Amino acid sequence: MAWKTIIEPFRIKSVEPLGFTTPAERERLLREGGYNLFNIPANKVLIDLLTDSGTSAMSAEQWAAMMRGDESYAGATSFYRFEKAVRELTGLREVIPVHQGRAAERILFQLLGGPGKVVLANSHFDTTRANVEVSGAEARDLTIPEASKAAVSYPFKGNMDTLALEGCLKELGSRVPLVIMTVTNNSVGGQPVSMANLRETSRICREYKVPLFLDCARFAENAWLIKRREAGFAALSPKEISKEMFSYCQGAWMSSKKDALVNMGGFLAFSDAVLAKKAREVLIIGEGFTTYGGLSGRDLEAVAVGLTEVLDEEYLAYRIRSIEYLAEGLRKAGVPIVEPPGGHGVYVDARAFLPHIPPEKYPAQALACHLYLLGGIRTVEIGSLMFGKKGPDGTFKPARAELVRLAVPRRVYTQSHIDYVIEVFGELARRGPDIRGLTLIEASEHLSHFTAKLAPAAA
Ligand code: F0G
Repeated sequence: MAWKTIIEPFRIKSVEPLGFTTPAERERLLREGGYNLFNIPANKVLIDLLTDSGTSAMSAEQWAAMMRGDESYAGATSFYRFEKAVRELTGLREVIPVHQGRAAERILFQLLGGPGKVVLANSHFDTTRANVEVSGAEARDLTIPEASKAAVSYPFKGNMDTLALEGCLKELGSRVPLVIMTVTNNSVGGQPVSMANLRETSRICREYKVPLFLDCARFAENAWLIKRREAGFAALSPKEISKEMFSYCQGAWMSSKKDALVNMGGFLAFSDAVLAKKAREVLIIGEGFTTYGGLSGRDLEAVAVGLTEVLDEEYLAYRIRSIEYLAEGLRKAGVPIVEPPGGHGVYVDARAFLPHIPPEKYPAQALACHLYLLGGIRTVEIGSLMFGKKGPDGTFKPARAELVRLAVPRRVYTQSHIDYVIEVFGELARRGPDIRGLTLIEASEHLSHFTAKLAPAAA
């Protein structure tokens, strides 16, 4: 019997209260926070879909493992357990712990970036792009055309445009220090990359002698979507699929705050021992000694356990099914989304939802603010506030798309929380035409969405 109800494959041992607020309180908090949801205190948020990063609920096994955390400065047993788990998964021998994904990026691009270099990717996440650009290099996204058509369903919108990749490698030659495959592809909607695309990308990289790196924050969700959507993988386990994914790359880094089911952690891993030696030198200056890299021994233990737990089939089936459930509810409420939903959340197409607000008035940020105002729900804008640019002549260059991401923390919310989100969206769909855009008042040069201040635009 195939039951229709999604059941969370866990029971709850420890609970936290949610932050109930009044509409007047939320209106004040938005105004005081410059219409930037990063400025809202978490206890004033009812359902927090800002990110799936570092927000997982850990398992009893992970908490138990933390108790045996070895906090020795050098050579802690926790490090060797962590190293073994990462080696076993990735097949990469040189394993360097870091406190989170962007620390790995900073080290990597300090070594491989620099003026004149061009880094190619299926698309760079915002911190990846920032670290490439801060090094003086250019970050070039080679997404496939389907990725920019939100309503068009395509199973692997996260793929690399391999024709464009070949063209760039031919043109740029040694100016390309590495190629990145982000799995899943966060910036285009948490969309998976197919194994066929990974294989072809790896073939091209080998031909041009450029190393391929995986930004593997959500490797397990990508593996599950390959199992479900790509012919020939249905009978393989998520672990077998993950291992094949890693077999195509010469390096990888992970923000373990996603698919390692922990609140803090990451790693950088290579097959190249010479590059690893240089990376360890940079690590010691900025993060810590080579066997802890900015983490406590107990954090290393939790990552080692999480990397195994995340590959559990019951967990992944529930995880991806619960994202589909949210998508089905939003569709029924008349909300346009990126189709089909990917791994870690649902992305709402704000340009289609609020067609009366032009990109320079940040329709996705306006929608995110209204979700908070109406229902205390916190989401994140992935649109022109995050990726829009000012041209040299001062003209505004909008992002590829105006999206609001509803990122679902792992093992945290139940089906009734998701039902509430769908209900609030139903009401917002009715109020859509009354929603006004926003004006940017203050922004920094890099990663401006974290600190930007906005105000309601004049009608
Ligand atoms: N790569 C990807 C694909 C990411 O999604 C993130 C973070 C990073 C790298 C950087 O990792 O945060 O540990 O330093 N994404 C979070 C998000 C912040 O909300 O999507 P980090």
